[in-house]
Amino acid sequence: MRLDKLLSNMGYGSRKEMKKWLKSGSVTVDGKPVKDGKHQVNPEKQTVSVNGEEVHYREFIYLMMNKPQGVISATEDGMHETVIDLIDPEYHLFEPFPVGRLDKDTEGFLLLTNDGGLSHDLLSPKKHVAKTYFARINGTVTEDDIKAFKEGVTLDDGYKTKPGELVILSAGETSEIELTITEGKFHQVKRMFQAVGKEVTFLKRRSMGPLELDQNLDPGEYRELTVEELTQLKNRSSK
Ligand code: URA
Repeated sequence: MRLDKLLSNMGYGSRKEMKKWLKSGSVTVDGKPVKDGKHQVNPEKQTVSVNGEEVHYREFIYLMMNKPQGVISATEDGMHETVIDLIDPEYHLFEPFPVGRLDKDTEGFLLLTNDGGLSHDLLSPKKHVAKTYFARINGTVTEDDIKAFKEGVTLDDGYKTKPGELVILSAGETSEIELTITEGKFHQVKRMFQAVGKEVTFLKRRSMGPLELDQNLDPGEYRELTVEELTQLKNRSSK
């Protein structure tokens, strides 16, 4: 790729600013100053440095966030804080976006990336990527609900859901459950419980595909995926 493109992708400034850097001789490729922005480099094989500092090139970033309540899963919102506002500016140059949405009052696993292909695969209805949610429910969740979810329930707009796997963790005036679904309709978990006459009072996503939310992440915290996690995710999304 072109040297000036590589550097501007990495946040070293615009093409124009890049020219200045290059002209001053502070950009080197394999130790030799290069002044021409059009110079072709292979970032996987060659070492590019600016002012003696090595540029670690990569095209994509993948962040696992524990989304807190009260924050919008979008890149921009005129009124409210978004998940992008929670991310260090050093990542902004990659222009990450959330893969799918969690409601403002839902917390838990949210993947942020600038890899449009992977995002598309993970969200594709054809890929049936499983998402597991923990929820607190106002009311007693029963075996009948397990059966109903297994068969699919009809939502308020007449849509019949695909089978969901419901596990009751505790049942009583307030119940705690885990629900695994392979779709991502608007407010799906809340509306599935609505369909059986119950209300979700707390919702947290625990996993997406092969990846589980890192227990060490407090709400609002995030970290990059490990190489192993990314491999698992890519293998899953290509199926
Ligand atoms: N289902 C919901 O109702 N809300 C979410 O945020 C995610 C799944």
